[in-house]
Amino acid sequence: MSDATAFFIRRFRGALDNVGEPGRYFRPRPYRNAVVRFRGCSIEDFEQRRDILVNEAGLNAFLFRADMIPGCDLLSDSGTTTMTMEQWAAMFLGDEAYGSNEGFFELREQFAETFGAGWCDEGASAGGSSDSMFLFHQGRAAENAFFSVLARELSRAGAGRGGALSGGLLPELLERIGPRLGGADGSPGGPVFIIPSNSHFDTTQGNIEDKGMIPLNLPCKRHLENDETYPFRGNMDIEELENLLEHERDRVPVVYLTVTNNTGGGQPVSIDNMRRIRQVTRRYNVPFFLDACRFAENAWFIQRHEEEFAGTGIPEIVREMFRYVDGFHISLKKDGLANMGGALVIRRDGDLFRRFPGFREGITDRQIMTEGHPTYGGLAGRDLMAIAEGLRTVVRRDYLDARIGQVARFGAGLDRCGIPVVKPVGGHAVYIDIDRFFDGAAADVGDFRGIAFTALLLIAGHRVCELGTYAFGSFDGEREIPPDPRINYVRAAVPRLTYEDRDLSAVVEAVRVLADHRDRIPGVKVEYGRQLSLRHFKSRFSFAG
Ligand SMILES: Cc1ncc(COP(=O)(O)O)c(C=O)c1O
Repeated sequence: MSDATAFFIRRFRGALDNVGEPGRYFRPRPYRNAVVRFRGCSIEDFEQRRDILVNEAGLNAFLFRADMIPGCDLLSDSGTTTMTMEQWAAMFLGDEAYGSNEGFFELREQFAETFGAGWCDEGASAGGSSDSMFLFHQGRAAENAFFSVLARELSRAGAGRGGALSGGLLPELLERIGPRLGGADGSPGGPVFIIPSNSHFDTTQGNIEDKGMIPLNLPCKRHLENDETYPFRGNMDIEELENLLEHERDRVPVVYLTVTNNTGGGQPVSIDNMRRIRQVTRRYNVPFFLDACRFAENAWFIQRHEEEFAGTGIPEIVREMFRYVDGFHISLKKDGLANMGGALVIRRDGDLFRRFPGFREGITDRQIMTEGHPTYGGLAGRDLMAIAEGLRTVVRRDYLDARIGQVARFGAGLDRCGIPVVKPVGGHAVYIDIDRFFDGAAADVGDFRGIAFTALLLIAGHRVCELGTYAFGSFDGEREIPPDPRINYVRAAVPRLTYEDRDLSAVVEAVRVLADHRDRIPGVKVEYGRQLSLRHFKSRFSFAG
């Protein structure tokens, strides 16, 4: 008998990893459902969805009622919609004291545990003058405070330099920055600051532009060349960064890196790339910050693909990632696994506080004016508890295997149907390349077929998000200005812990129907909001023709 058990253990183990064949995947999720939410609508209600879409939402996915979505809501992976029982239990223990509630201290300890010693460790006063963790109700509020105070401090310090760009800049950088530097009449005006990144997210871009600065995306060449074999397509182009700092260092107050790179296809960044950025930023004495929303997913990719870290645990890799930076902002609605939350964390002894002595007070004042006391930062005490617990779960290897594995299988399902997805598939979402989906017919920046695609998929019962020529492009009153560098994606972001594979298979089937009849998908006409900033959140459309 013992031979039989050994035999079957071998066979069962082999079956677990059978991921190659469609529909054959036997590894159970490392969790099971304890609570479910029934839908209030049926997948058969096509006409009702069409009416809501056309008459109420103006074809804008953001304006479509969530309770009328019977399939997968893949608009965003943000604001983790399914929390663990441990998180719900922790919320009961939420301390709603106005100042210095228990959750603040618990969260600060957890930040030090998650991101490494030196970040938010003991000894700092609560929300006081030596603190380095600043809480906000979500990521963009942290971004807003950061760039507002940065702009103020730069102006106080009389930093920057006006005039034309240095001729030493690489021609492609000159070409990309030059037209954005001019004053209203096109002449080079006063100092305009440049914030480079691998790619900024839309709200980060919006916050930087709002302060009169230039967000500059420097994704690596292998990403731009669509190299499907490269596991770290989120990396930044070091040559361009170095050239920028060599010639325009005075205009660059901080270098950013988004992990994983959401705008660039949810692609991870390697430790090697971070080390190189650190070397370059050190050489030119420029602070280096992360937009760290999906830090744990990024660490999972490092463990898998960066040889040096193959045997290192996820928590250790996370701490390694954060060793190289002077600060970060984070939306805790992603890898905080929470419904709400954001933070800005700045190294207490780092370059930024040294260079701008008024920075800390500036951030704290903004918290008090817009969010509440720094020890709760716009969040309920129970949210802080949920985040602290979420940060413990998110670095679990079994959780990340299940999470990223599901996104990979979803991407593979679309790929098998011939849908052009960005490959390798990233950690939180599958990105459909709309230019390739329409065989180049959507290359006209003004017809916004990505919007039409999302609208028709909503009628099928699933919601995704256009992140392409509409979301990242702009309209100057006469012509469309495409995103720089040009991207034209629709993103299907998979919420954490929420759907089963069969739900996502339903999305694959609906996309397959659209692909089979792609020549019948029209462009859209913008009825409202084409010239607005952050226009994709607000606009209304109708089908053209
Ligand atoms: C990379 C990145 N940065 C910033 C944000 C903004 O965070 P929040 O939605 O919490 O404001 C997001 C949100 O999706 C994001 O993906």
